Amino acid sequence: MSQYRLDKYLAEAGLGTRTQVKACIRKGEVIVNGVPIRRPEQKVDSGTDEVVCRGEVVCLSDFEYYLLNKPAGCVSAVTDPVSPTVLSYIDSRRTGLFPVGRLDKDTEGLLLITNDGALAHHLLSPKHHVDKTYYAITEGIVTEADVAAFAEGLHIGAEDLMTAMPARLTILNTEGSRSYINVTIQEGKFHQVKRMFQAVGKEVIYLKRISFGPLRLPDSLKPGQYRVLTDEEITLLKTGRIDPDGPVPE
Ligand code: URA
Repeated sequence: MSQYRLDKYLAEAGLGTRTQVKACIRKGEVIVNGVPIRRPEQKVDSGTDEVVCRGEVVCLSDFEYYLLNKPAGCVSAVTDPVSPTVLSYIDSRRTGLFPVGRLDKDTEGLLLITNDGALAHHLLSPKHHVDKTYYAITEGIVTEADVAAFAEGLHIGAEDLMTAMPARLTILNTEGSRSYINVTIQEGKFHQVKRMFQAVGKEVIYLKRISFGPLRLPDSLKPGQYRVLTDEEITLLKTGRIDPDGPVPE
């Protein structure tokens, strides 16, 4: 439950631009708790006040949660002077949306987008080991020795100063000089998966995140498409049910 200016409440609910909704308010088309309100700066409470615009009840939840299948070629940022951002794929008038964590520009897959800063902080905190699983294609054949090295933890930084925590590596297939793998990590260091493979002499040539905590990338969601999280998924994220092997709503 939060307080909003009436014009911001209506604009964020998608009823129009700030200028358009101000015009509606001044014409007396907006009724709060049964009373026409003509002041755009009037405060309304999203939890307790009933806002009606031209006869339709307008609901605004404080937080929005989207699961985007990030396409390659866009950046995990709110603004960028050159490249499209992940937010450009989300059709929402909500201010304050941001991606939870980062995928590289050439990485595809599951990215959570929200305006819930507390949840993002919780999920990104190093104290909470959120599993992130990636599907990758490597140039160079991944071996059982690599699986063991990933399980041990690897040195991935200059002069062995940076280490990656143990990771679960599964070889799905090998064809010619390439391997097709899944890898689950709990950290989110810069270029982490690419650098882990580099450390064992392989190059990642395709990378897609397929899960994040309890969230799975649905097959039906093509790159650039997104959907709203279900209430169950939001609860799973918030209550610490972040076991990737646990039940996940479809
Ligand atoms: N690891 C990487 O190397 N890149 C990503 O985008 C995510 C994890």
